[in-house]
Amino acid sequence: MLMIGDWGANDDLQAQTAVALGMKKYVQDNTIKPEAMLLLGDNFYGPFKGGVDSPRWEKQFEQMYPVEAFPCPCYAMLGNHDYDEEPKIKLAAELAYAKAKPETRWKMPSKWYSFANQLITFIVLDSNYKNRVDQLTAEERVAQMTWLKVQLSKPRTTPWLVVMAHHPLYTNGIHGDNAALIADWDELFKQYKVDFYFAGHDHDLQHMEFEGHPTSFIVSGGGGARTRSLEILGVKHGPFAQAIYGFSHLQVTKDQFIVRHMDANRKQLHALSKTRDGKVTILSA
Ligand SMILES: [Fe+2]
Repeated sequence: MLMIGDWGANDDLQAQTAVALGMKKYVQDNTIKPEAMLLLGDNFYGPFKGGVDSPRWEKQFEQMYPVEAFPCPCYAMLGNHDYDEEPKIKLAAELAYAKAKPETRWKMPSKWYSFANQLITFIVLDSNYKNRVDQLTAEERVAQMTWLKVQLSKPRTTPWLVVMAHHPLYTNGIHGDNAALIADWDELFKQYKVDFYFAGHDHDLQHMEFEGHPTSFIVSGGGGARTRSLEILGVKHGPFAQAIYGFSHLQVTKDQFIVRHMDANRKQLHALSKTRDGKVTILSA
């Protein structure tokens, strides 16, 4: 599987195109047939005239990540920019696009949802907690929490359990740790031994581990929006953070879950392997 966040740049598509081309060459060079793409939010920055018929769908999704290289479902989630500018149009379009264009690979059946393959159960959440108009309402937050607890308490049917949403709980990036998300979700991740939490929002690539915490925290937000320097807000979470354009490659078996952070030139920046007993090993290139 491939993973990118913060990819749907507005106007200047140079970086998005470079990462998309790098990812395409990477799958071709390594004869990878991706099983899925995970799109970690901020799918479209800026205006979105035309809704499901906006030309940006073709330009920045269908053609940008061509089906020849990525013949797989693309599971998307909502970032803060998916709510901005024209929230009614953009949000509605992202939720309706798959129904309007049945041939598409785009998947966003609702604001929060889950899906699974033989190896991984994915829980996708909406982390837009600011309670601004048009973001997640207080009622939706409660409904999502109730739903999340139901999902987590189901007997596990796959070796791996992954939760993902746009905003990181912990980060070395400029947005800082997210107290509201930590308060709502972190104990649940511990209780139900969530293996990974994937997020974007900070425009960089990160891997964070915490002593005694079963969850590995991954940020992959280098899909195209302008990178920002890693301002450490008095904390530093290890072992890896780099403000750079890039994507992530997930290679999974029942015994081992490998995450590779790659730059747009297909250089491996950081990689880790996690085994079923929770042991994390940093892999060299
Ligand atoms: Fe964001």
